[in-house]
Amino acid sequence: MVTKLQLRNVWFRYSREEDYVLRGVELDLGESELTVVKGPNGSGKTTLILVAAGLLRPESGEVLLEGKSIYEQLPLARRKIGVSFQDPEDQFFNATVYDEVAFALRQLKISEEVVRARVTEIARRLGIEHLLSKLPYRLSGGEKVKVALASILVYEPEILLLDEPTAYLTPENKDEVIRILKELKECGRSVLIATNDSDIAKYPVDRVLKIVNGKLFAD
Ligand SMILES: Nc1ncnc2c1ncn2[C@@H]1O[C@H](COP(=O)(O)OP(=O)(O)OP(=O)(O)O)[C@@H](O)[C@H]1O
Ligand SMILES: [Mg+2]
Repeated sequence: MVTKLQLRNVWFRYSREEDYVLRGVELDLGESELTVVKGPNGSGKTTLILVAAGLLRPESGEVLLEGKSIYEQLPLARRKIGVSFQDPEDQFFNATVYDEVAFALRQLKISEEVVRARVTEIARRLGIEHLLSKLPYRLSGGEKVKVALASILVYEPEILLLDEPTAYLTPENKDEVIRILKELKECGRSVLIATNDSDIAKYPVDRVLKIVNGKLFAD
């Protein structure tokens, strides 16, 4: 298995006055792998996602993208890694849902025709076509989660780090999201889902990890 993203003995805390949230975390995320990280509220799932994405820097330890420090390849890493935030509003900054979903593709200088085709396709799959002209902030909780996902899935990054991607979703929507993620994994993508959603347990995934006292374990 080709390893895409690695955390090596990662220690992270939000400040010197606080306890460590991640304590010697080890994680290998492989190509064509769908991994779920579970853990109670406040156990460090979101922190783990942000550190793995290179958005928070650990006090010690390493975060390696394809074997090299992620911090030395940041512009490229941003393209290779798609991150969805637990609060989707944290990732919205466009005036319409369409622009939000199209944004990453437009950065890649793809023709507007292809952008439209890709946006339309992912919107159809996630059932958000009727929302494309709306203001992202005005959506319902589940709609926001779907739009946030669409904005990442649309450009098919090699690595997907998704924080609670099924929050607020109905069972049918969860099924569709998991189906899409599995397809991406079959196509070679690495997918890491941080979640408290017990429904996720229904779906067969490659690996379930649990975060306990700041360490990751096989469930
Ligand atoms: N920006 C921050 N500054 C200080 N402490 C923080 C910050 N963000 C999170 N924490 C603390 O870090 C710990 C881990 O939080 P984190 O959000 O990673 O947990 P989580 O497992 O994602 O929880 P949830 O299931 O509620 O989403 C918690 O004790 C939290 O209070
Ligand atoms: Mg969280």
